Amino acid sequence: MGQAGVKRGNVYYSEEIIEEVRTKNDIVDVVGASVRLQKKGSSYFGLCPFHNEKSPSFSVSGQKQMYYCFGCGAGGNVITFVMNYENYTFQEALKYLADRAGVTLPEEDASAQNRQKQSKRALLLQINKEAARYFCHQLRSPRGKPGYEYLSERKLSDETIKHFGLGFADKTPGSLTAYLREKGYSDEMLVEAGLCAYDENRGFHDKFWNRVMFPIMDINHRVIGFGGRVMGDGKPKYLNSPETPIFDKSRNLYGLNYARISRAGNLILCEGYMDVIAMHQAGFTQAVASLGTAFTSGQASLIRRYTEQVLLAYDSDGAGVNAALRAIGILKEAGLSGRVINLEPYKDPDEFIKNLGQEAFQERIDKAEDGFLFEIRILRRDFHVEDPAQKTKFEMEAARRLSQMENEIERENYLAAVAREYFIDPEMLRRMVRSLAAAGGQVKPVERPRSTTGKKASAEDNRKKTQRMLLTWLSDEPQIYSQIQQYIQPEDFTDELYRQVAKLLFEELAQGRCDPAGIISRFENEEEQRQVASIFHTRLQGIDNQQQKEKAFKDILYAVKQNSCEYYASQQGTDINALKQVVAARRALEELSKVHILFT
Ligand code: GTP
Ligand code: MN
Repeated sequence: MGQAGVKRGNVYYSEEIIEEVRTKNDIVDVVGASVRLQKKGSSYFGLCPFHNEKSPSFSVSGQKQMYYCFGCGAGGNVITFVMNYENYTFQEALKYLADRAGVTLPEEDASAQNRQKQSKRALLLQINKEAARYFCHQLRSPRGKPGYEYLSERKLSDETIKHFGLGFADKTPGSLTAYLREKGYSDEMLVEAGLCAYDENRGFHDKFWNRVMFPIMDINHRVIGFGGRVMGDGKPKYLNSPETPIFDKSRNLYGLNYARISRAGNLILCEGYMDVIAMHQAGFTQAVASLGTAFTSGQASLIRRYTEQVLLAYDSDGAGVNAALRAIGILKEAGLSGRVINLEPYKDPDEFIKNLGQEAFQERIDKAEDGFLFEIRILRRDFHVEDPAQKTKFEMEAARRLSQMENEIERENYLAAVAREYFIDPEMLRRMVRSLAAAGGQVKPVERPRSTTGKKASAEDNRKKTQRMLLTWLSDEPQIYSQIQQYIQPEDFTDELYRQVAKLLFEELAQGRCDPAGIISRFENEEEQRQVASIFHTRLQGIDNQQQKEKAFKDILYAVKQNSCEYYASQQGTDINALKQVVAARRALEELSKVHILFT
């Protein structure tokens, strides 16, 4: 935590201006503009934009001006939300919110010293931007001729090359490294940005070499990494930037910066950068690709912000089919519908379009196969259905998959389609599906336990949970504080972070204020912010009436105090203040057992 308040913000802006921007942007409005929220009690709930889920566990509290996801633990205040949702740095999020609320930020002080102090993310973004510029320039210089010829041969127009910011890394060793050093970036930062590598023979050297460069942009058109395709048949064919603080391969998609503003009403998901570019060039601006790795659930979450209709244009070979099957599963998990575009007899969208053109591709889109029926069709390939035993196995498996569909109308429609397609008697198939459903096929999968992976919560977890419950409760009902002020101190919270939060909260409560979202701002790193959000969003269960409430609250307070007493008792000998703490805690416990806490 920054001693003087907001370290991150202090680089450019005072704590006052940050607080002004924050308080002028109501979190319910800001989140509500991107996530569909429903009021439930004193909070709003919606589907979490940071992980995949089908039932809402993402909560937004107007009173606390915070959000918290009970599913994945994402949490923070309005600034954190914009940072995470838009993939913005702190400064960018602040600028965005200031504009939104009509607050004028003081001019940035861009002195060399301040530039140096900038957050690492901002610096990495700058380096990637400079590198992208450099590669673009190289492509257009005499040295870039091989790259330019390659792209022309692949039928990319100048306009397309410019639109996607394509570039070239030539064969001169270390030219990018030299260029960026010249701009004042340190070797360490260039390595961290993934553009430069070090080994004993070569020292610091360029990572990309003799490749056509594809800058990878986030949804706000900022370069976060690169893919580089080798000229000719070298290995690896594609080299990608490693993951960095700004480049999370599982939460970005190539081409999404353009696809998200396409009006197609669907997204086309494919495997390759060249495929995306070829599709965009042919007018299919809704195409995106994963980043040299398999499609992830984080990417499905990202897609769900824009559409529910996903078309898969994966390679038509064996590996492509398997990748498509996995992607369909992930899409289904995220509540998205996936259909499969048949590219036969061509290998990928790029080749298809080059050979058959845009209209033929549009026809294939219109005829895309339903994801479930695709799965069944691929399944059948494994069985020799002329053999009755194999035919039975196939039909049983198809029935089993049908039996897992929860929605009856949907199940019935798919059943009819499968029966028709594979010449199965629908009545018989229906009987099979019913008996499988009755035998447990349709039972919903057991919900995964949150956080701790099935393990029983440890004593430590329980202690922390009790401390969290007390802090959540005080932030929910700040008026109780005056009654318990004399029995509780920040020192009673035995975890460092909890103690800091308690200290800040108690200071506010003592002045009759309560601003959990402001407290979050005092913590610098994202993980701490998440933890602070969880401290203010712990569920208080099984409390229905006034009497239960008073007892429950007192039990929690008592437990926290008792834990504190035990903790300091065990510290005696190493900590000279421990004895004092123990004596005070014992006295407080005794008094507590006599007092009555009133909720009004
Ligand atoms: P072209 O030959 O340029 O048309 O490539 P393609 O788009 O047909 O690529 P391919 O189907 O071979 O690969 C699809 C995607 O997988 C590429 O865009 C890369 O993101 C990724 N990829 C391909 N080869 C490699 C590799 O050797 N290493 C890594 N990390 N990724 C690769
Ligand atoms: Mn290709």
